Amino acid sequence: MQYHRRKGWELPEAQATPEALFLSRRSALLAGAGLFAGVAGLPARADQQTETDRLHPYPRNAAFTIERDVTPESINANYNNFYEFGGTKSVASAAQALKIRPWVLKIDGLVETPRDIGIDDLIKSMPREERLYRHRCVEAWSMTIPWSGFPLRALLDLAKPLSGAKYLRFETFNDPKMAPAQRSPIYPWPYVEGVTIEEAANDLAFLVTGAYGKPLAKQFGAPLRLALPWKYGFKSIKSIVRISFTDKRPVGLWEALQPSEYGFWANVNPKVDHPRWSQASERVLGTSERVPTLLFNGYAEHVAELYKGLEKERLWA
Ligand code: MTE
Repeated sequence: MQYHRRKGWELPEAQATPEALFLSRRSALLAGAGLFAGVAGLPARADQQTETDRLHPYPRNAAFTIERDVTPESINANYNNFYEFGGTKSVASAAQALKIRPWVLKIDGLVETPRDIGIDDLIKSMPREERLYRHRCVEAWSMTIPWSGFPLRALLDLAKPLSGAKYLRFETFNDPKMAPAQRSPIYPWPYVEGVTIEEAANDLAFLVTGAYGKPLAKQFGAPLRLALPWKYGFKSIKSIVRISFTDKRPVGLWEALQPSEYGFWANVNPKVDHPRWSQASERVLGTSERVPTLLFNGYAEHVAELYKGLEKERLWA
C-alpha cells in the first residue's frame, strides 16, 4: 500500500514532547487566541448551551470508584486522540469546530423499532450517574476520569434487540467540512467500533455524556461517546451518531487499517505486547509515575467471565 500507515500513537516515547513543556506552550498559545475561559490551560467546555446541561453533575455511583487519583481536567482536556481533528494529541482547539446540536442518534438494524432520537431526549430518559473509570490507551498511557452518562444496558432496553442481534456497531459523524482531517484518504472514515451484545450488557459498558461534573467537552467526543474501561481506549468511540444492531462482527477503523496490530476484542493485557512496544506498564498522565498495567485494566472481576471459551480468539489486540 502506498500510504504511510504510522499512527500518532506509534510515536516512540523518546520523540514525544515532554508533557509539561507541551502543556505550557499550548496554554500560552490558546490563551492568546482567547479560546480558554477562566484558568489558563483549561479549555472552555461545549460552547453551545444545551437543554440538558443543567442536569449536571450526575450522582456518583460509589460502586465505580478506584484507588488512583483523578487526572486533572487540564491535563486530560489537552491530551486527546480525536483523529477527525488531527493526528496529534493537541486537537482540543480544532475540536471546537464540532457542532453538537442538533444531534440525532440513529438506532437501527436488528431491533424491534428502529428510531432516530435527539440527544437531549435520550439523556433525559436515561438513568444518569457519574463513575470514576480508568482509561488505558494502547499507546501505554493512562488517566482516571469521572465520566457522567448512563449504562449502555439502558440503551439496550430502549432499543429492544431482536434475537438475531449479536453485535453493536457504533459510528462517528462523517463531515469533512466540519472535521477537515476527514478529508484524509488514509483513514477509512467514518470511525467505527463494535462490541458483542454480551459486552454491551456488562455493568461496566458506559455511554458518556459528561466528564468532571459537566457536559462533555468537545475534544472528549461530545455529545455521546463510549467508555469501555477494560479495553484499550481506541474501542471507546467518540461523537456517536449511529448504533446498529447486527449479526456481523463490526470491523473498527484501526482494525480495517492495520489488522496485524489492532483487533476486535482489544482487551487490556500486560502480558501481550503490541507488535512494536511493551504493554507491561503505563505512564500515568499528570504524574511522573509509570505503573504496572493490570489484566483487563484492573476490571477482571467484572468482565473475565465474558471471555470464557473464547481463549482461541485474539482477545488482546
Ligand atoms: N473516536 C473517534 N471518533 N475518533 C478517534 O480518533 N480515538 C480513540 C478513542 N475514540 C478516537 C475515538 C482513541 S485511540 C483513544 S485512546 C480515545 O478515544 C481517546 O480518548 P480521550 O481523548 O478522551 O483520552
